[in-house]
Amino acid sequence: MAANRTQSPHLPLGDRRDTAFYGQDILEVAQFRRADLSYIFGVAREMREMVERIGSFDLLKGKILASLFYEPSTRTASSFTAAMERLGGSVIPISEVRYSSVSKGESLPDTVRSLECYADVIVLRHPEVGAAKLAARYARKPIINAGDGIGEHPTQALLDLFTIVEESGRVDGLTITLLGDLKNGRTVHSLARLLSMYDVKLNFVSPESLAFPDKILAELDERGIPWEAHRELEEVLPRSDVLYVTRVQKERFDDPDHYARVKDAYVITPEILARARPQMVLMHPLPRVGEISMEVDTDPRAAYFRQMEYGMYVRMALLAMVLGKA
Ligand code: CP
Repeated sequence: MAANRTQSPHLPLGDRRDTAFYGQDILEVAQFRRADLSYIFGVAREMREMVERIGSFDLLKGKILASLFYEPSTRTASSFTAAMERLGGSVIPISEVRYSSVSKGESLPDTVRSLECYADVIVLRHPEVGAAKLAARYARKPIINAGDGIGEHPTQALLDLFTIVEESGRVDGLTITLLGDLKNGRTVHSLARLLSMYDVKLNFVSPESLAFPDKILAELDERGIPWEAHRELEEVLPRSDVLYVTRVQKERFDDPDHYARVKDAYVITPEILARARPQMVLMHPLPRVGEISMEVDTDPRAAYFRQMEYGMYVRMALLAMVLGKA
């Protein structure tokens, strides 16, 4: 844990600052400790207060973010852009890599070494597990992992945890149920690892073929986190404090028939929600493709759009921190 908590490899000699996370990459949730999370969430709350008071301010004036997305994104890309612009900085958006020199065969190491000539921080989404770590090995400037294939999505996990804290008022003592495509969903991989720093019970509900990876279950066992695997949501819904729903990730399937068999395995409707706790928090990283009925959106327990907004404040905090301003 916290492998890169020491002085950043990106800092030139003599440029040490004591600001938390200054110059560091954000690659995986294992680099955080509980104290780090409290700190990040404190900064995120300050960001929310500032946005509510004055909208935008010049904390990162003159700083540039390169937003490099090899896979589609609505929330992650636009919330990092909004975060940077609300902090007074600017963005180089590369959301269609086919229009960049990637289409000519440029490698990821060369692409990030090019972008860092112009930018102070690079946000990277890539279809291959480990791509962000590879980029960070070559880059001098901080790399923020915005999702690497079915690997990790650490900034999503931070915003998910922040949502739980803000909506439930605590994390310790909660029973949290993760539902859907638990094999391919990188957000649940990162979130379960982050939650394992707390006193929680975890339930995993999925079709057998989309079960949560054994490797991460073994990590939970090592940390003494109680968990149960189920096929039916009804078995755990009435005792869940948080229900985190995920999309079946069509783009990760080789076999269209397999996708067709599992894509509608779970659909949250008002009738199903009637059996949940009155204070349960219903989350989804979005996008959804039918696994939560739109009729549920007006239920006060539906937190998924609030979750998106929390994400902008967390990403503002992270940008300010890695750029030495928080
Ligand atoms: N939650 C999430 O990562 O959404 P996007 O794919 O739209 O960025």
